[in-house]
Amino acid sequence: MADEITSAELETWLRASAAELKAHADELTALDSAIGDADHGTNMARGFVAVLDKLDAAGDDVPGIQPLLKSVGMTLISKVGGASGSLYGTLFLDMGKAAPAATEVSVTDFAAIVAAGVAGVVGRGHAVVGDKTMIDALDPAVTALTDAAASGASAAEATRAAAEAATLGRDSTEPLVARKGRASYLGERSAGHLDPGAASSAILLQTLADTLAGGAGDAADAGDAA
Ligand SMILES: Nc1ncnc2c1ncn2[C@@H]1O[C@H](COP(=O)(O)OP(=O)(O)OP(=O)(O)O)[C@@H](O)[C@H]1O
Ligand SMILES: [Mg+2]
Repeated sequence: MADEITSAELETWLRASAAELKAHADELTALDSAIGDADHGTNMARGFVAVLDKLDAAGDDVPGIQPLLKSVGMTLISKVGGASGSLYGTLFLDMGKAAPAATEVSVTDFAAIVAAGVAGVVGRGHAVVGDKTMIDALDPAVTALTDAAASGASAAEATRAAAEAATLGRDSTEPLVARKGRASYLGERSAGHLDPGAASSAILLQTLADTLAGGAGDAADAGDAA
């Protein structure tokens, strides 16, 4: 049975993501303090507060999917700064560019939209799977989402598969040596810690699956923050 994903659902996801990123900000920052500069949780929480402000300012009008996602991208680029601001900004901006002006899309089209956003992140950051970045969570999530959509899964099933793949991808970063971003300066010492960007990507996808399952956002732990 065809199943549509609506801009109202995506707005609910974005609002729940702001709450989840705020709730997990300390864990994300602890991960970034191990292999970076201890700002990832703060960066993401600040960016999504700005996203919330913009959603609130837009009032009750339901935007099309394209303007909604583009607006999130522009907000993250302007408010987050640093590596993750431009990378997450590009993710949403390029998702928006691939999205229709309409207020709903099929699961298959949504998978293609997410794939375009992740391709944009790769185009900007040049990371591949195994470099210990957000791509280690995002790339398997796109594959799982695309495969699930192709096999006729519902929006809830397909996004759950994507969230599970992102979570496994996040966990796969722990033993890796970072080859991109600030963590790469540590060389071998970056091994033994989860990548903070992979952890925040897993939170976004878990929150999407929770939203489309009809529940409140309840992302799992960002990861070991030891
Ligand atoms: N080239 C890249 N491609 C994909 N993801 C990257 C890349 N560089 C960094 N990242 C992701 O960004 C995360 C770090 O985000 P954070 O918000 O801490 O920015 P930052 O590295 O501190 O930024 P800056 O160094 O500009 O201050 C990493 O955990 C990683 O997942
Ligand atoms: Mg940082």
